[in-house]
Amino acid sequence: MGFKEEIKRRRTFGIVSHPDAGKTTLTEKLLLFGGAIQIAGAVKSNKIKKTATSDFMEIEKQRGISVATSVMAFDYRGFKVNILDTPGHKDFAEDTFRTLTAVDSVIVVIDVAKGVEPQTEKLVEVCRMRKTPIIVFINKLDREGKDGEDLLDEIELKLKLKVKPLSWPIGMGQRFKGVYNMYEKQLNLFAAHGKQAKEDVIEFKDLADPQLEEFIGEDAAKELREEVEMIEGVYPEFTREAYLSGDICPVFFGSAINNFGVKELLDCFVEIAPSPLARVTEEREVKPDEEKFAGFVFKIHANIDPKHRDRIAFLRICSGTFKRNTNYLHIRQDKKMKFSNPTSFMAAKKEVVDEAFPGDIVGLYDSGNFKIGDTLTEGEKLHFKGIPSFSPEQFRYVNNADPMKSKQLAKGLTQLMDEGVAQLFTKEMNGRKVIGTVGALQFEVIQYRLKHEYGASCSYEPINLHKACWISCDDDVALKEFLKKRNRDMAKDKDGKYVFFAESAWTLKMAQENFPKVEFHFISEFE
Ligand code: G4P
Repeated sequence: MGFKEEIKRRRTFGIVSHPDAGKTTLTEKLLLFGGAIQIAGAVKSNKIKKTATSDFMEIEKQRGISVATSVMAFDYRGFKVNILDTPGHKDFAEDTFRTLTAVDSVIVVIDVAKGVEPQTEKLVEVCRMRKTPIIVFINKLDREGKDGEDLLDEIELKLKLKVKPLSWPIGMGQRFKGVYNMYEKQLNLFAAHGKQAKEDVIEFKDLADPQLEEFIGEDAAKELREEVEMIEGVYPEFTREAYLSGDICPVFFGSAINNFGVKELLDCFVEIAPSPLARVTEEREVKPDEEKFAGFVFKIHANIDPKHRDRIAFLRICSGTFKRNTNYLHIRQDKKMKFSNPTSFMAAKKEVVDEAFPGDIVGLYDSGNFKIGDTLTEGEKLHFKGIPSFSPEQFRYVNNADPMKSKQLAKGLTQLMDEGVAQLFTKEMNGRKVIGTVGALQFEVIQYRLKHEYGASCSYEPINLHKACWISCDDDVALKEFLKKRNRDMAKDKDGKYVFFAESAWTLKMAQENFPKVEFHFISEFE
């Protein structure tokens, strides 16, 4: 297969949702269709959940929340599908945001009973800003939930998305009979047999056909005809162009746990979802079909295999062909590197790959060379954009709790920060270290990982802070004045950039008013 065909057949996407909407379940079902995992009988049991392919970390198993972002690839109908799993927990939102820089489209899972939840709102906002194409999957139709039309209104209102249902539910909960797939013009009938559901697919080009009554009964047939007529009147016609430009989001209904509506979703997804898109760098736009290889690291993961201490840097290939044992330039360190064991992720299996194409994610074994956002190329100096650190909101002083292990602590902290778990600041005034995170859970994760992976112990001390923001100023005199006056509140981040610690919203406001020449930034990437 030629290079261009390889690019064209790739679909790299992320599934995002509020915790418990069914993201893990849907991921597993997609993997089943792709033959990436084989599970006999009832597809989802507790046992499987505990060893779900997306649960890499000990911590995750302990807490039962999806902490790690993992990558799973499979082949389906000639397409190469790369799923980038994202942690649903809000304290790991930053991890999810970064993963979204490496995808070309997303599927948003919504619980039919709960509707649009806060975490979904935040994540979709990021996708909307980047114009990432979105497909919505409304899950758990086997349970009673919100009315279909109300839900669509809610999605439009809260997620500020224009939607177009491509399937429509026939009842729900106990009365759930299936869905009418408007995209394929077919009826998918749902029959629950004990725990296992069965899906009958019937071609049904014309809903006026009296056979409809035979399949779903008179009342449901009448209701379905009315609703579909209404939908076709109210919502715009679906075009792939509008979806690709992020202007319209197709909506599917189903029940992931029952494997209902999942195949239809996948079939439509592979057809309409974008193949790898161009990416912007500080220097220029990088197109996937360029001959020369370029890629960036969007995630670093430690200890996937507890027997090995290596870290794995996840590299998104943006252009050209990535090859094993070939010298590439690590731009930040200005050094040549080659990789003898680049890894692809086929569900639970890791395999060494000889080459990988745009859209693919490869894992590079790393002994501490990579930070999030690092670029690899064949020699051109490129810096991919859009992988910023966010201004943290939770802060604690970090102290060494075991004086014999200060080296281990320093190493552990540096590596965890490179992974993007949190941010470490050093106060100008007294050199004290402060950890900043977007969620409280990270503090526990850091403590746990320092202990288990580095044999180091840390303790925390509270610090009264509202926000940390990066500052910049074109006027040297004004900058000096600010640094002198606010020395008490100044710190440096890991790259030596100045950061202002604001104790309260009010202090921040006052600083902005009193020092108009100083700019305050809430993400680390600014011009
Ligand atoms: P998440 O990754 O988005 O957090 O959600 P996950 O897939 O873990 O699903 C959350 C819960 O919702 C699970 O139940 C799962 O079985 C259930 N679920 C997923 N899809 C459906 C569906 O289509 N219908 C119904 N009724 N439930 C669904 P749990 O009790 O938390 O876990 P488990 O004991 O079933 O494993």
